[in-house]
Amino acid sequence: MRTAIPEEPLGSTGKSIPLVGFGTVEYPLNEAFKERVLHAIKLGYRHFDTAAAYPSEQPLGEALAEALRLASFNPATSFSSPQNSGSPTPIAAVSSRAYKKLSKTNPIWQQKKLREYRKEKGIHFSACSPLGAVGTNWGHNRVMENEVAIRWFYQQRVSVIVKSFNKERMEQNLDIFDWELSGEELQKIEQILQYRGSRAEAYLSENGPFRTVEEIWDGEI
Ligand SMILES: NC(=O)c1ccc[n+]([C@@H]2O[C@H](COP(=O)([O-])OP(=O)(O)OC[C@H]3O[C@@H](n4cnc5c(N)ncnc54)[C@H](OP(=O)(O)O)[C@@H]3O)[C@@H](O)[C@H]2O)c1
Repeated sequence: MRTAIPEEPLGSTGKSIPLVGFGTVEYPLNEAFKERVLHAIKLGYRHFDTAAAYPSEQPLGEALAEALRLASFNPATSFSSPQNSGSPTPIAAVSSRAYKKLSKTNPIWQQKKLREYRKEKGIHFSACSPLGAVGTNWGHNRVMENEVAIRWFYQQRVSVIVKSFNKERMEQNLDIFDWELSGEELQKIEQILQYRGSRAEAYLSENGPFRTVEEIWDGEI
């Protein structure tokens, strides 16, 4: 295993969550997907994000099952989370797609109110599309280097779900643990002009919990 990804305790559950996770959204799904998941496990990834709506859900489950099988044949290659040394226990976190406001965030869409709320309530926050979903027709990463964005989340003890199926970049995205952003650099990031990737109008309804854009974003539009 290349990297032991640091983990954050989840309240009083006695469990913890790896702070860098592996995103799996791609349409259509990469032909080498299962092989990339097995490679990710070798690199140290233990936190995988998927959803019923993604084409990755079933192949991800199959790849994790395959990894467990391989590990049980050869203990030398077994993978485990730091708390469970010796037993092969990949951690799979299932993130809710109930409200987009609870998921996507990156340096140009920092969701400050949401971050404050989760700190106050002790809620663990997983950041999706942390690189601005570069490569999609809705995203871009015009602002900063990818590793800087990942490190920025890591320093806040937020788990960051980053997607790459490119072996070199999968590794690069873990090169964030032996350096840090200074206070001055963090302040500069706080000052970046904010851009909301989605106003989430599709989630508004006269009969639902949110009737206006102001309500859904707690006034932070
Ligand atoms: N629960 C939800 O509602 C929700 C919503 C959005 C996303 N998510 C999860 O969050 C994951 C991440 O979000 P995302 O896929 O939208 O976008 P993202 O992780 O912000 O960006 C992915 C893009 O960045 C590229 N990339 C990755 N590492 C890079 C690096 N070091 N240098 C340059 N380019 C790099 C990837 O290309 P390559 O693959 O070619 O490297 C891909 O095009 C998703 O895959 C999904 O699992 C969940």
